Amino acid sequence: MEPTSQQSSRGIVIGGRPLPTRFFLAPLAGYTHLAFRVMLRRLGGLGMATTDLVQAQMLVSGTRKSLELVETTPEDRPLTVQIYSGITEHLVKAAHWLQAHGYEAIDINMGCPMAKVNGSGGGARLMCDTSAATEMVGRVIEAVDLPVTVKMRLGWNDQLISAPQLAAAFEKIGVAAVTVHGRTRQQGFHGTVNRDAIRETVNAVRTMPIIANGDVRTPEDALSMIRETGCAAVAIGRGAMLDPWIFRRLHDLECGRAAVVPTADEQVTFLYDHFHLMRQQHGEFSCRMFRKFAAWYGARLGIPEDLEDRLRRFESPQEFDSLVNEIRQRHGERSCQVPTALIRTPNGPVEHW
Ligand SMILES: Cc1cc2nc3c(=O)[nH]c(=O)nc-3n(C[C@H](O)[C@H](O)[C@H](O)COP(=O)(O)O)c2cc1C
Repeated sequence: MEPTSQQSSRGIVIGGRPLPTRFFLAPLAGYTHLAFRVMLRRLGGLGMATTDLVQAQMLVSGTRKSLELVETTPEDRPLTVQIYSGITEHLVKAAHWLQAHGYEAIDINMGCPMAKVNGSGGGARLMCDTSAATEMVGRVIEAVDLPVTVKMRLGWNDQLISAPQLAAAFEKIGVAAVTVHGRTRQQGFHGTVNRDAIRETVNAVRTMPIIANGDVRTPEDALSMIRETGCAAVAIGRGAMLDPWIFRRLHDLECGRAAVVPTADEQVTFLYDHFHLMRQQHGEFSCRMFRKFAAWYGARLGIPEDLEDRLRRFESPQEFDSLVNEIRQRHGERSCQVPTALIRTPNGPVEHW
């Protein structure tokens, strides 16, 4: 596939914001919080990160959970806050709130397949009615001076692939970029990513950047996604958990540099720093929050399986620190690169999620 005009070799500008690379972090609710984003930024190569999705009305009401989700630091840039709601007024108020509080960009979630989000007309449900969705997004754009982007799936199901039509309509009203996860809502997280349909979305717009997303696990996957779809940028979610160095490796490749393989020390220090950064924000609760990273990190960070098992159950920062010491001493014992667990995605019929 020949590259198209959407492609450039290094960074990219979205909504007037220059972004250092075209490799972005896709939001993963429960994982892509402040500590994880900052850790990835410190490794290098990350072009942009988005917060976990935040319920628009909760944000305006200032609930503890939503304020925690939008917590950030100067190091955590460039950052986009993702909001969702089925009610335009709520999105508009949240957009005002974000602008007033100094945030730089807003992403509207139109891809979430969960019943509790769709039931209230939010998430992927918005993709079923192009004119209503366009009207809603247009109201948010009019309300603020910040760049507004949209993240969506291909459509509701195979019979309703609306991403190309929606992207074209969004471009006309001034949406700064659209991220497309190459699955339908019906697919949930099953089946394969449809790169042809992502390419059709790229072809449906003139210059608005399309950010392709779905199942990118290696630098080669990201580069073939760009080649095959002609997208302007790639968003990586679960692949960043599997390999937090993926952005740096991609950036090195693009700059014609040999990818630097993280040393054993760097890998264990990453583990240590991630937890302690999380602790600064979440205190003792971090032990519970961090455990789910253990199975995901285990293989990549060369954590022997018995220690990974203990990392899934640790109860205190002291226990964590002593585990890290053991990991440091025994690093390299494990040769397997396959993670023992994947990020949990909802199972069963989509209707019940
Ligand atoms: C646990 C989990 C949480 C997610 N949370 C969000 C979210 O908050 N907002 C969103 O737009 N997408 C969310 N997604 C979808 C991802 O951003 C992404 O579109 C999807 O996982 C496919 O990309 P990947 O294969 O690179 O992970 C989530 C996915 C998973 C697995």
